[in-house]
Amino acid sequence: MDVPVLESEGYATPVASAPAPSTADPLWWRSAVIYQLYIRSFADGNGDGTGDIAGVRAHLDYLKELGVDALWFTPWYASPLADGGYDVSDYRQIHPAFGEIEEAEALIREALALGIRTIIDVVPNHVSNEHEWFKAALAAGPGSPERERFWFVDGDAIPNHWVSNFQGTTWTQVPDGQWYLHLFTPEQPDLNWNHPDVRREHEDVLRFWFDRGVAGVRIDSAALLVKDPELPEVPDGVVAGQHPNTDRDEVHDIYRSWRAVANSYPGTRVLVGEVWMPDPVRFTNYLRPDEMHTAFNFDFMARPWQGSELRESIDSMLAAHAPVHAPSTWVLSNHDVTRTVTRYGRDDSSFAFATKRFGTPTDIALGTRRARAAALLSAALPGSLYLYQGDELGLPEVEDLPEGTRQDPMHFRSDGVDPGRDGCRVPLPWSGTQPPFGFSGGDSQPWLPQPDDWALYTVESEAADPRSMLSLYRAALAIRRGLEGDESFSWLSTDADVLYFARGGGFVSITNLSDRPIDLPEHEEFLLGSTELVDGQLAPDSTAWLRPINHER
Ligand code: GLC
Repeated sequence: MDVPVLESEGYATPVASAPAPSTADPLWWRSAVIYQLYIRSFADGNGDGTGDIAGVRAHLDYLKELGVDALWFTPWYASPLADGGYDVSDYRQIHPAFGEIEEAEALIREALALGIRTIIDVVPNHVSNEHEWFKAALAAGPGSPERERFWFVDGDAIPNHWVSNFQGTTWTQVPDGQWYLHLFTPEQPDLNWNHPDVRREHEDVLRFWFDRGVAGVRIDSAALLVKDPELPEVPDGVVAGQHPNTDRDEVHDIYRSWRAVANSYPGTRVLVGEVWMPDPVRFTNYLRPDEMHTAFNFDFMARPWQGSELRESIDSMLAAHAPVHAPSTWVLSNHDVTRTVTRYGRDDSSFAFATKRFGTPTDIALGTRRARAAALLSAALPGSLYLYQGDELGLPEVEDLPEGTRQDPMHFRSDGVDPGRDGCRVPLPWSGTQPPFGFSGGDSQPWLPQPDDWALYTVESEAADPRSMLSLYRAALAIRRGLEGDESFSWLSTDADVLYFARGGGFVSITNLSDRPIDLPEHEEFLLGSTELVDGQLAPDSTAWLRPINHER
């Protein structure tokens, strides 16, 4: 791959990219770069305004050139799309708007031929209300075995006051008087994981996809599956492991069984958990050697752009992972949270679902500068790296979607107070100067409208600009390849505002989070910078990668 050669020190200097890792490497997942592909919005191959498998197959060369090791596909199965596909009606079918199962199989093969693995999403906590099981449960009526696969309860009043992750109640009453549980929307009934059918079916789904060559699964809402069968109210001061619906100790048995399924396949098939868990030890319990391989490090993602905060997160995450021998992951954003350049451009640059509001003042130039520094910081840390599609282009959150175009139930269930997650799911701009910016062939407009000024962010224009976010990511991932397999890490400074650390013998990363330029440490070679040096100094909100002097060869 060609890495852009830039004129002045402070951006990239030419680097030879290390060879792509062998697809036979059993430890590939420990340091992989995984690109989160939100299929609806990546590229539209058939011109109907919705992204699809054909669009991905047509752009595999882009992903190869970017330098990613694996793709994680958000749900691509049959679904009424009440929650963007996280309401699955059939795991063994692809949503017709995205393609067919044979196309998914071809994609998995073609990507692997380029050295890129495929990870799929499974959503075990709930299914769609249009799933055969739920339809059968409704038809069979109270007391039937079909209802036992879900949480159906009798009663005149609501069974308890658990609050939905999308606000509001977690119970819906059906015409025969019973209530069913849904931790998300009513279109997403929760499964009863005490039922053997539920366990067996999910293990079969894993086999179905492992048989088709997928290299791993991302496990949605992984801490929520097991409920206290008494369905009690959430007590004050709940004891860890005994919350009625979150992180119950019994949930770990499920992942032990899944790990056994994964281990029965050749190569390493990985389990990646979506585990939102404030306590680092409760979090890494999911990563014990017979459970999941890795889980998303949301602690780092949610921290504000402040040296002490990020340093504390790095330290606590590395310390929590060490005893279970799992690598950490590093994540700056995903399809649920505010785009990185927008979040980092705000006074409060932390992330919390509860604080998302319309009209938050944002300095996109500052946010972009910090996002560039964060891209290099996170890519330099030991472990695997997740990159959400569009972050490599520096796309901002789209906050002014026209009325009537929003789709996210989080927005509607908050009575319109929470902007929801549509703003980070807008289709990618590929080329040209006006919507659909090459996303769809022809004139059909994307399922969510793109802002008119996204010509600035197209792959075409950024690929031609050595100072673009895309050029930074391409150069960074090429250099990062040389670090894969090395899990060493040591701080070289205790300064709260300067995150300066070494990886292996021949690489250091330094991020300046102070408000003054700082001197660079002595170095043999300047590898890459997120901004141009100013009089030889590293400006605020910048990261530089250096080859130290006297390094090991
Ligand atoms: C996860 C997904 C999110 C989805 C929710 C319910 O948090 O990332 O997009 O809405 O689970 O399945």
